[in-house]
Amino acid sequence: MPAFPETLPTVCEDEALLNDWFPVGYSSDFEKGKIAPVRLLDRDLIAWRDDAGEIHVWEDLCIHRGARLSKGCIRDNQVVCPYHGWRYNSRGECTLIPAAPRETPMRKARAFSHHVAERYGFVWTCLGDNPGEIAPFPEWDDERFQKVLCGPYPYNANGYRAVENFVDATHFPFVHAGLNGVMENPDEIAPYTVEIGDEGVVSSEVRVFQPWGDARGIPVVGFYTYKCLRPLLARFSKRVLKADENGTPVDNNSEYFATLFTVQPLSATECIVRICSATDLQPAPTAEAVRERADVVFNQDRVIVETQRPERIPTHLRYELHHRTDLMGQKYRTWLRSLGITYGTI
Ligand code: FES
Ligand SMILES: [Fe+2]
Repeated sequence: MPAFPETLPTVCEDEALLNDWFPVGYSSDFEKGKIAPVRLLDRDLIAWRDDAGEIHVWEDLCIHRGARLSKGCIRDNQVVCPYHGWRYNSRGECTLIPAAPRETPMRKARAFSHHVAERYGFVWTCLGDNPGEIAPFPEWDDERFQKVLCGPYPYNANGYRAVENFVDATHFPFVHAGLNGVMENPDEIAPYTVEIGDEGVVSSEVRVFQPWGDARGIPVVGFYTYKCLRPLLARFSKRVLKADENGTPVDNNSEYFATLFTVQPLSATECIVRICSATDLQPAPTAEAVRERADVVFNQDRVIVETQRPERIPTHLRYELHHRTDLMGQKYRTWLRSLGITYGTI
């Protein structure tokens, strides 16, 4: 990978984020022959898929005079800069300087490329030199589960605030009244535990009653296990028992509902949420019904998370008030501090 020019902004300097992977879109977003501008951690990037189907994520910058490659086009499986027409092949090498077509372009004439991978229906990129592993989502390869990609949900809000909201069960009766909880009769949350370890931040089960617990529109009791796998990536798995209208389980056979919650941080205060759900619910809802319900729920979340101030999440616990029922959020914030995260936090 070539050295990056000093003219590029380096807004995020946290190694834990630079070496992490973030979705920049769904795999289906990127068609051959098109250049897509994408944004990550205040950096302007392009993503494009070559004729072999490989995806590439580069800085949105031509080394010649700094024009935006996103304003260019693809010709003959190469990115053409809109300014002087320099062409870059899928290895990022400049193959043609049209003003000197018989010369071989100098070796330094290259695109600035980033690590890229496709997994769980998303295109992931890593801006750093030492990418780790993309977090596991074992349900993806497990045929027992129906997978549905939902979103995108652009939040005009801080990504950590979005993650913390996702791992918080006490907002259900209010933000998702009538769906994930009952406003007039909110669940009392029994004490639960949270461990910080190799997997990240992991809760024990949190029990809630949900009058419209999933896309089937039936009452269920859900037992949530939350995990913050990465600073901006979380998941839950929920054990689901069918229930009556009063929240009493009517069935001992538990079903399964997992959600991977990904965040693409555009800046410290803007992000795009995309999710993948994996379920074995019976009867199985249609993918469209799953997406429709996710659209409702995550838009309800977005509206409230966009109101939170300060926009950057405080990771010092003294700045907001924490109750024992917020243990997951408290541990998440403490963990962010322990990872040395400063971008997007106060
Ligand atoms: S700036 Fe890209 S070819 Fe000149
Ligand atoms: Fe929510």
